[in-house]
This record gives sequence, C-alpha cells and structure tokens, in this order.
Amino acid sequence: MAMAESLTNIENSEAKVVKLCTFNAHSFPIYLLSMPTLHWIGKEKVINHHQDVPYRVLEHKYGFTAEHGRQPGETGSGNLILHGDNLEALKSLLPEYEGKVKCIYIDPPYNTGNEGWVYNDNVNDPKIKKWLNGVVGKEGDDLSRHDKWLCMMYPRLKLLHKLLAEDGVIFISIDNYEFNYLSLVLEEIFGRKNCIESLIWKKSYGGGSKSKHIVNLHEYIYFYAKNIEQINELSLAHDEAILKYYKYEDEKLPERGPYRLQPLATTSMDDRPNLVYPIKYNGEEIWPNKQWQWSRERVETALINNDLVIEFKKGKWSVNYKQYLKSSEGVTRGSKLYSIIEGIYTQQGTSDLRSIFPDTKFTFPKPSSLIKTLIELSTSGDSLILDSFAGSGTTAHAVLNLNKQDGGNRRFILVEMEDYAETITAERVKKVMSGYADKEGTGGSFDYYELGKPLFTGDNNEFLNEAVETEKIREYVWYSETRTAYKKPDSLNDSPYFLGVLEETAYYFIYEKDSQTALDYDALSAIKTKAGQYVIYADNCLLPKDFMMTHNIVFRKIPRDVTRF
Ligand SMILES: C[S@@+](CC[C@H](N)C(=O)[O-])C[C@H]1O[C@@H](n2cnc3c(N)ncnc32)[C@H](O)[C@@H]1O
Repeated sequence: MAMAESLTNIENSEAKVVKLCTFNAHSFPIYLLSMPTLHWIGKEKVINHHQDVPYRVLEHKYGFTAEHGRQPGETGSGNLILHGDNLEALKSLLPEYEGKVKCIYIDPPYNTGNEGWVYNDNVNDPKIKKWLNGVVGKEGDDLSRHDKWLCMMYPRLKLLHKLLAEDGVIFISIDNYEFNYLSLVLEEIFGRKNCIESLIWKKSYGGGSKSKHIVNLHEYIYFYAKNIEQINELSLAHDEAILKYYKYEDEKLPERGPYRLQPLATTSMDDRPNLVYPIKYNGEEIWPNKQWQWSRERVETALINNDLVIEFKKGKWSVNYKQYLKSSEGVTRGSKLYSIIEGIYTQQGTSDLRSIFPDTKFTFPKPSSLIKTLIELSTSGDSLILDSFAGSGTTAHAVLNLNKQDGGNRRFILVEMEDYAETITAERVKKVMSGYADKEGTGGSFDYYELGKPLFTGDNNEFLNEAVETEKIREYVWYSETRTAYKKPDSLNDSPYFLGVLEETAYYFIYEKDSQTALDYDALSAIKTKAGQYVIYADNCLLPKDFMMTHNIVFRKIPRDVTRF
C-alpha cells in the first residue's frame, strides 16, 4: 500500500525519474528521484502515519434544523460538524467520503508563534504537542517550529488528498511563515502539475505605519487540483455590473440568452497576415485598422448565423460580434478569477462574525465572501465542501450563502478541534440557518458529531473493538465494501446479518461480540435475498470450496478481512 502510494506520488510529481536497477529483494523497482523534495526532522515518522491513525466511529450528538431547532435524531442533510482532531476525523470520514469531496478549503494555523489567540497559531497547542510526542517520539520536543508544523500538516494533507474527488480542488490559506515549505510538500503530495495557482489575497487596503521595512498587505491561497486534467473551465457568475452589458436580444434568446457587443477588430495581437482581409457586406469591403480576431471562414459562418452586427456610424464602419450570455451548449458565461484577489478584506471577516457574536474573541476569521468566491469558482449545485480547520465556521457560512444565492444544494463538512466547535462553530451555523440581527436565515440543517471509540484495537489494529456498537461496525463494513451510504435493512425478510444488496451482490456480516460465528449451511439457510454473488463475513468458514464457487459465495474472515483505511 505504502509502496503503491509512493509510486503514484512519483507519477504525479512530473519528477524526472531514473530507474536505478530493476528489482531489489522485495521485487520493487528502485527509482532515483531527481525532484527537489523537502526534508525535515521527523518526516520519516509522519510520511506514512496517516495509515496508522486509528479509525474512530462518529458519535452523533444532535441534529439541527432551521425550522425546529435542536433534535436528537439525524437530519440526513449531509451537513456535518465534527468536533475533534482533524487527523482522526479525516480518517473516520474515509470510508464514506474517499474520492467524493469536490472542494476543500483549509486555513491551518500559520505558525506565526502567536499563542494569545482563541486558538494557538502554532504547533504548541497541548493537543498537538501530545500528538507530536506520540508520533515522532521524545525528539518531538526538540524539533524546530517549522519541523513541528510540517509534521503536523503532512499526514493531514495526505488524508485530504484521498478525500478529494478526481475532479476536486483544494485551497489552502497561508502566509510567509510556511509558504515555501508548504509549496514543496504540496508538490510532493499533489504533484507539481496539479498546481493551478498560488493566489494572492490582498487582505488589507493599507495601514502598517509601524512597519519597519515593508507594509505587508497580502497572504496566499494555494490552489491545487487532484487531477488537473479533470478540471473544466472555471468561472464565477457575472456580477450586476457586467450583466448590465448583456442588454441586446435576438431570435436566439431562448437558447443563448441576451448578448453584448464586442469589437471584432483588434490592435493588440501579434501580426497575423491571415487575419487581415476585407469583410464583404452590402457590396462594401470593410478592412480592419490592424487585423480581425477571427479567421475569414469563421466570419463567413458568423454572417450566415447572424452573429455579427455591422454598422456605419459617424463616417466609419464598425464590426462587432455578439457575445451571448450562454454558450452554444447552454452554459452561462462567467468571469474569470484573477490571481490577485482584491476588494475583500480581513475586516469583513471580523464584521461577519461580530454581527453574529458581538463580543467574540475569535481573531481574524476569513471573510465569508472570500471563501464563497473560491467555492463558487470550483463547485456546482450538489458538491461537497470540506474544511478541516473550521475555526468560526466561515466555510459553512459561505456554502449556505452561496446556496441561497444560486439555489444550489451544496453540503459542508467542518472539523474543529477546540471546544468552541460547539459554542462558536456550530452556533454560528445555527444562526446563519435561522437568521440573526436583520439577516434572514438561509434555512437548512446539520448534524453534530464527536469522535467516538476506535473501531480496531490491539497493537496492530488486529481486533474489532467490542466496545463499539455492532450497528456502527456493520455500517463501516458496508461502506468499505460499497462506498455507498448505509441504510439499515429490513431484516424481517432476511437473515439478521444481512447488510444490503448492491449491483447484484448481497453482503452479510455474521458477527457476534461474545461468540465465534461460522459461515455454514445453517447460516446459508437464513439467507433469503437472491443475488448474483454473495460476500459473507464470519469468524470461520465451514463450507467446501467447490460449493462456494458454484454458488458464487465469497468468504471474508472477521476481523482479518475487514478493510483498514
Ligand atoms: C486559522 S483558524 C481557522 C479560521 C477559519 N478559517 C475562520 O474563518 O474562522 C485555524 C483553526 O484550526 C483549528 N485547528 C488547529 N489544529 C487542528 C486540528 N489538528 N484539528 C482540528 N482543528 C484544528 C484551530 O483550533 C483553529 O480554530
């Protein structure tokens, strides 16, 4: 697994790979990587650590709906707030969400050394220190601030990479302290070719009279794709100021929407002699001052299709093409995001939060309109958005506002480690859904979870933890087999061990906490579902191999064959 993952990373990285020799004692090819990679103290301890993180079950604490407030049962909305360390939380999300998240936004501690905030902006948070010492060992105490931060980030980024959909993207806010180190780690995990941009966010408009050297006004947002080849054109809905130019209508209005006029002549391109030709119109020959933007053939087709507007005004010919609001495929045209984001400032983040909690001590939340822009750029109506350093819950606020704006049904998952996950993060989301001050609520619902017991016990995760509810284990096994949501089956019609059926395969989990179970003829006689194949878990199998082959039965041994994510 670790080897397969490393090889995928090598492929992603665009690195120049030199194969040194064909096989070593373990039959793996040996590569020399000619790609710059970052090394730091403790790296070797964390590089595969994400695989050892225990899988904990999620314990539902309560649901919330804008209409009815808090409720004990699950809302089924798909919106989740998780209280806990994101390393374990992300691991617990894997069975259900691996490869399903369309957009991740994270705003991790920048490692500025500031401990006076509501959260520690470095890796000296007692919880993280304890984790570091556990994973890196005693020398964890001696690591530099940067080593610690990298040790903290690396396994979390590995899990986030797994959770992203093939066409998903990740945005990571960061400033100068860790910008360069993060860059190399991202190239290693996501692959250099998948870097879309390192966006610059101009976070304030001025000030800094006390700055000795330079007035710093910006920070960065790394923008990576899981697989850049899967990312289509990205754009934002036009705002009112641009929409007002789309004021003309013609016979194509129902399919293409209104249009604006754009000049066909250009003076700004390189000289291209093939773009210099006369357009023949009503017996006239119209020449460009320098050249046209389109080829002669394209212009001829446009004339036939009524896509050009040619007028004689003030003694001169003007040629404009119609730019419709919708493409010929019916996709609404949008604006591109600039690599420097201006006009949204930190102060807005503070006032967003203060208008909900006037006395809040939470410092420097991001402006929700900044995150809304990133989400709008990269998601569509039913996408899943994840923020595993959720802080005050700005990402959920942004998702809810965007859904309200465009009628979407995007869902969010937030993870926050501090106890204010309930009092600030979840509380803010409740207020946004129900309304606050003079703001109308967006509506909606979410479920609040804590991290529960680990599913496996033993030094090598070799046992199922008997303290975990059987229903949670069944849920996990179903996810691990099918990667689809588990619905408790109606076992009146089938064996109590029936998990469900998907694509002609029926799944059974013959498990008892206090006794050994067997897949035998008795167990089979309880099975009623007709399926093309049967996947059956039990402690032992007493059926002959040829019988299993004839009846398309696959045996999985408990706990050995229960997948470890
Ligand atoms: C910079 S703040 C995020 C602010 C957020 N973007 C907002 O607008 O409110 C970082 C947050 O990550 C949380 N955090 C740090 N380490 C974490 C971890 N290992 N697991 C979960 N949350 C963590 C901190 O408690 C803090 O709330």
